[in-house]
Amino acid sequence: MANVYPEAVCICKKFDLSDAQMQEVVSRLTEEMTMGLTKDTHPRAVVKCWITYVQDLPTGQERGKYLALDLGGTNFRVLLVDLKSETEVDIQSKIYAMEQSLMKGPGKDLFDFIAECLANFVQEQKVENEELPLGFTFSFPVQQLGLANGVLVAWTKGFSCEGVEGRNVVELLQEAIVRRGNLKINIVAILNDTTGTLMSCAFKKLNCRIGLIVGTGCNACYVEKTANAQVYEDYQTSSKPNMIINCEWGAFGDNGVLDFIRTPYDKVVDKSTPNKGRQTFEKCISGMYLGELVRLIMVELKEQGVLFKGVDSQLLQQKWTFESRFLSEVEADPPCSYCKTSKVLDEYGIRCAPDSDKACVRYICETISRRSAKLVACGLACLIKRMNNKDLSVGIDGSVYRFHPKYHDLLIEFMQKLLGPCFNFELVLSEDGSGRGAALIAAVAAQK
Ligand code: GLC
Repeated sequence: MANVYPEAVCICKKFDLSDAQMQEVVSRLTEEMTMGLTKDTHPRAVVKCWITYVQDLPTGQERGKYLALDLGGTNFRVLLVDLKSETEVDIQSKIYAMEQSLMKGPGKDLFDFIAECLANFVQEQKVENEELPLGFTFSFPVQQLGLANGVLVAWTKGFSCEGVEGRNVVELLQEAIVRRGNLKINIVAILNDTTGTLMSCAFKKLNCRIGLIVGTGCNACYVEKTANAQVYEDYQTSSKPNMIINCEWGAFGDNGVLDFIRTPYDKVVDKSTPNKGRQTFEKCISGMYLGELVRLIMVELKEQGVLFKGVDSQLLQQKWTFESRFLSEVEADPPCSYCKTSKVLDEYGIRCAPDSDKACVRYICETISRRSAKLVACGLACLIKRMNNKDLSVGIDGSVYRFHPKYHDLLIEFMQKLLGPCFNFELVLSEDGSGRGAALIAAVAAQK
């Protein structure tokens, strides 16, 4: 690191996970997952491993028109998915801007807003009289009591609407639909984005067994043997061999088992979130938090008089202003050029910084991205070892995975390190899991 300030190297060291630490993360997650799956320990488990009631992967033969809602990522979307053939899937969708106030206001307003967008969308698509089956991708920790019955356990990712935790969100949506009076909608399934991603990928890749999201939040689901999903009432008698498990691994570490790798910066980030003390693993990994970690390190280096000397940036001092897309842009610069980094800093109110500052910013971004990828690799290695599947695909979506120039390669590098040569895996970008996956689950549900 010849041209990076030694003070920066010193801070960034705290984020550098050794191979031994990574192995330790894998083994601790393995333990936590066993607790989540096991009936006796499930109530006090931190990594809940929720059952999804999805027991069949798609066959590729699913057909028909379905509606899907996607809430819980960067945007709120409504989709109309037409499964025409194995190769032809027609998707119409609309993004609706959601005010911050809706994410933090009364739950009733949120669901009224969703119902309003839905009404507006079906009219635009001229399907308002068709009473189509709807799959609701609701990407938060949900305790499912059936395919179309899911109780929100706790909000994550900056949401904090009152009156929703502890309630069946399908019912809340249904009530909002009834309040409008003019909508014919049949909600047949509620699902997590990871499940949608797995289904959507499995429609094309028959060996897909894991769905992963590295976006605003981070989480994964995988195919478990039904017999191991002890929380399922029929786990011993079900005729279906498999059950998709929504790990909700974002909560890994909420009981302190990740304290051995957490840094003081992680603790500061946690303190400025509405869900303090929760989603420990996620807060080290996902897009919502990566930028803030970078910002905190930059602020400290500025205070030490090392970085951005003589520059007075208002934004730098404000929480949550360094967006995670900035990491993707900064890291997209080739080794000796700072073209994109300069643009990012410019946008951030830091002009004319010397190259040594830019190199330092890049180094910080790389450090934070690498740790994120290492931790996700630990999670994936844990699932792959658990399934003991020697040849599988992982369906992945989310803004960090999609837009970061090196994330895919980093994940592969670290997974190979953890798994060794005996496991063959492919990481596949899953196209629109929240829409297509929701339609596939709705298709299977509607058949029943
Ligand atoms: C958060 C949510 C989880 C979701 C993930 C990715 O971790 O709790 O349900 O899958 O974000 O969006």
